[in-house]
Amino acid sequence: MTKRPLPHSRPTLDDRDIAAVSKALSSGQVSMGPAVAAFEDRFARKLGVRQAAAVSSGTAALHLSLLALGVGKSDDVIIPTHVCTALLNAVNYVGARPVLADVDYADGNISAADVKKKLTRRTRAIIVPHLWGEPADLGALLKLGVPVVEDCAQATGALYKGKPVGTLGRIGVFSFYATKMLTTGEGGMVVANDQRLMKAVRDRLSYDHREDWQVRFNYKLSDLQAALGSSQLDRLDQFIERRRNLAAIYGEGLKGTGVTLPQGRAGSAGVAYRFVIKVGNAASFIKRAQAAGIQCERPLFRPLHRYLGLKGFPVSERLMQESVSVPIYPSLKDSDARSISRELRKLFDKPQARP
Ligand SMILES: Cc1ncc(COP(=O)(O)O)c(C=O)c1O
Repeated sequence: MTKRPLPHSRPTLDDRDIAAVSKALSSGQVSMGPAVAAFEDRFARKLGVRQAAAVSSGTAALHLSLLALGVGKSDDVIIPTHVCTALLNAVNYVGARPVLADVDYADGNISAADVKKKLTRRTRAIIVPHLWGEPADLGALLKLGVPVVEDCAQATGALYKGKPVGTLGRIGVFSFYATKMLTTGEGGMVVANDQRLMKAVRDRLSYDHREDWQVRFNYKLSDLQAALGSSQLDRLDQFIERRRNLAAIYGEGLKGTGVTLPQGRAGSAGVAYRFVIKVGNAASFIKRAQAAGIQCERPLFRPLHRYLGLKGFPVSERLMQESVSVPIYPSLKDSDARSISRELRKLFDKPQARP
């Protein structure tokens, strides 16, 4: 195995990004300005959606989306338990009650069947992340008749039945954190075809020069960040292709080990944001992989039901026991992915500690 440990994830930056940010800096416009407008326009066109509003993070995008949908104190918002706390925070920001749903074992995405069981008259929205870059079961979820916020933080560029994720629900949110599909350092985007919703998002995302006063936020992206975003967006298709190639190398390299490989949903095209395999005992496997110089990690730090002290999410619990995330990012070389596969294969040959 190569001597330098390869990181689990890293941003993909090059001279084109540096040139784009330098140009923005030289213009003297460093806060929100024309580069943000251009980034929004390009992002909207890439997705084929009417409007896009750039914001300072994926969390801000979630918050503004819930506000735009009119979600408030007496409402429930259904979210999966098997996700980071950003969703739980956003629901709490608007004073609504988070209701957790379990997930599907195959891909870790929110279970439409469990969501259906948790619907009440108070349910005002469902936040549907496309976990690890794989589209969730949108067909079934959209049929439930509750507004869907598509959380595409991990899935920019993924397709569900040929259509870009983020454009199928009422509103779509994205994150451009350092290691996401494309980055602005920190940043995010809200997209929708509904102009009224987008007007509400834009109304709240900055506070200055208003005739009236109401609680508003400073969730703006800067021109420096947007310049980076546009430069990255130019290469999004290449990033996706690289990730898919690496996933194919891992798939081939780990065949026959007994490991469960990631499975996409029929009719959808994921973006291999994470390559999550299922093994008998993830904790022991990760320890042994790291000892061999491979930065495998748990894909999720802690599911939300554990934070809230809730029981009864057996699929998420099982995924926590078994899931291992293998390094994947566009700058990882094919040769690295092959040698990682070879090293991981060796771990399967050795007996594992019991969970
Ligand atoms: C599914 C999901 N939603 C929302 C977020 C929040 O995005 P941000 O970190 O840009 O606030 C993340 C971040 O990792 C995420 O993975």
